[in-house]
Amino acid sequence: MSADAPHNLSRAGEPFSAVMSRRDMLRAAGLLSAAAILPGLPAAASASAAMPLDFDDLPLKVIYDHAVASGYDANVLIRWGDPVEAGAPPFVGQGRPAAAQAKQFGTANDFIGYFPIGTGNDASSHGLLSVNHEFNTMEVFFPGVTDRNSLTKEQLEADQMAHGLSIIEVKRTNGQWRVVSNSRYGRRITPQTPCVLSGPVAGHPRAKTIADPTGRNVLGTVANCAGGKTPWGTVLTAEENFQNFFRGMPPEEHPEFKSLEAAGITGKGKNPWGIYEFRWDAGLDPQEPVRFGYMVEIDPYDPKAKPIKRTHLGRFRHEAASVVINKDGRVVVYLGEDRISGFIYRFVSAKPYAASMSKAEAGALLDEGTLFVAKFTAEALEWIPLLPGQGALKDFATLGDVMIDCYLAAIAVGGTPMDRPEDIDFNPVTGRVYANLTMNRERKPDAVDAANPRGPNEDGHVLEFAPSGGDHTEQTYRWSVVMLCGPQGQSRYGEGTKTALSCPDNLAVDPKGRLWIATDNWRYREETNPIPNGLFACTVEGPERAKVKFFYNIPKGAELCGPEFTPDGRTLFVAVQDPGFDPTGNGLNWPDRRQGMPPRSSVVVITRKDNGPIGG
Ligand code: FEO
Ligand code: CA
Ligand code: CA
Ligand code: CA
Repeated sequence: MSADAPHNLSRAGEPFSAVMSRRDMLRAAGLLSAAAILPGLPAAASASAAMPLDFDDLPLKVIYDHAVASGYDANVLIRWGDPVEAGAPPFVGQGRPAAAQAKQFGTANDFIGYFPIGTGNDASSHGLLSVNHEFNTMEVFFPGVTDRNSLTKEQLEADQMAHGLSIIEVKRTNGQWRVVSNSRYGRRITPQTPCVLSGPVAGHPRAKTIADPTGRNVLGTVANCAGGKTPWGTVLTAEENFQNFFRGMPPEEHPEFKSLEAAGITGKGKNPWGIYEFRWDAGLDPQEPVRFGYMVEIDPYDPKAKPIKRTHLGRFRHEAASVVINKDGRVVVYLGEDRISGFIYRFVSAKPYAASMSKAEAGALLDEGTLFVAKFTAEALEWIPLLPGQGALKDFATLGDVMIDCYLAAIAVGGTPMDRPEDIDFNPVTGRVYANLTMNRERKPDAVDAANPRGPNEDGHVLEFAPSGGDHTEQTYRWSVVMLCGPQGQSRYGEGTKTALSCPDNLAVDPKGRLWIATDNWRYREETNPIPNGLFACTVEGPERAKVKFFYNIPKGAELCGPEFTPDGRTLFVAVQDPGFDPTGNGLNWPDRRQGMPPRSSVVVITRKDNGPIGG
């Protein structure tokens, strides 16, 4: 074995020259040294980010239930079909009417945002959860139905109501968390909830439809994947794979054709909603898709608040958002675009935030500013502004056009195509931003770069970046690789790692500045999958930097989303998404595990038996 053995990236059958060239690339990016931080990245403001995690690794094995590290409890808090809105009926099994599902918890829970209701210590024992419902799995929702196009209008209406978001009130009493029944905050937001567009696309000629000649009023939000929270107490929910919700295409000569095609709308979309509601058919209503693919801001404390699509954060397959108030008060939002060769973006507001602002005033800061795309070189990260009518964007007539076709604009200005950016989170303890790049099997060995150093990238990696001077409006940042994921021998973790993770997806930072990484391993549905999905954690400073530990395992077939801490770090909420894909059938009725029950996506609450901080 070579001296590089712990970080050996070679695979059986791979030409030696390919290994060498990738090693050269990795060496340039500092990846073959011991998990070093690139010089120039600011030192952590606190030593806590180096505090070792105090739990023992779970065994790395496939299971059909969930399991948490010794010394912790993991309890199901809410499942698909449980009541959300006041007066909602309980879960009655599959094939429920739309009216019931419209008041109940939706499917495929993904992002979780915790919003305190109490103050002081109570802030961490009473609050609201905003939970995304990313998609629906037809085989589970309508057992026995194999052809989506055969579903009736009533069935499709029920299916629609399982999408969107849920707002629930949660409270901890005598150590136990529960959902508050018939809460006045309980709310479902669905693909039919009235929303508004704001920012450069609001009222844009391309955002006008037959039903909405103003181009400002949209019905609903879809594909709500991860998200973020604002300092003014609102949630940002990410419309990710919106292209999947549209069938049909206009003729090639239609002015929207190229844009729709770039968005990934193929005309072969399988979603049948357009059979009964023509706006979901891009052939019949080619500008309706222009109104999806945004970061949507929602005030969870106000059940009547209209969701606002903040179009200056760009229109693309939004994964997540991380909001930072810069030292001059301007609002900076880091954003990721989850598609193969998608981009990382940064929005900088024109005006500063003040704590005295109303939520409406603060939210409006997201409507005026500059959107940038990230360009990585071996030495630095450069932010390139996306401005219409200039240079490579001279054919983009208006700012609205740049936002609508953000992906094309990012390509045009030379942004760096990334290995599917998933969650992105600012870490206030280290002053750095962390980004999960989940995987990219299509990256060719000769198309790797410093920030995407493996081709194909089967298991993903984690990046960090930061402004050298701590000013989040700087043009040039330093960056580094935190870890290269995958089985031992094809990965690079911190010294002493005994486990392995594949395909980092959702991400959370605990109050001490340590990373908690939820995974979506694409092999998880295969019988031979070696690495289960779940929650992994690591420190990001000190001798144990990037030493990964396995904290929470989930039923085979599911992926893990969430994770979200209460402000005191003593409660961790996670979302077990879609536990219905186990081909053996062993996990098919999780979490109820009773005959006749379907698998149900569920939010799980994790606490320590001694009520200490999660991870110590
Ligand atoms: Fe819905 Fe990119 O995960
Ligand atoms: Ca995701
Ligand atoms: Ca996150
Ligand atoms: Ca996912």
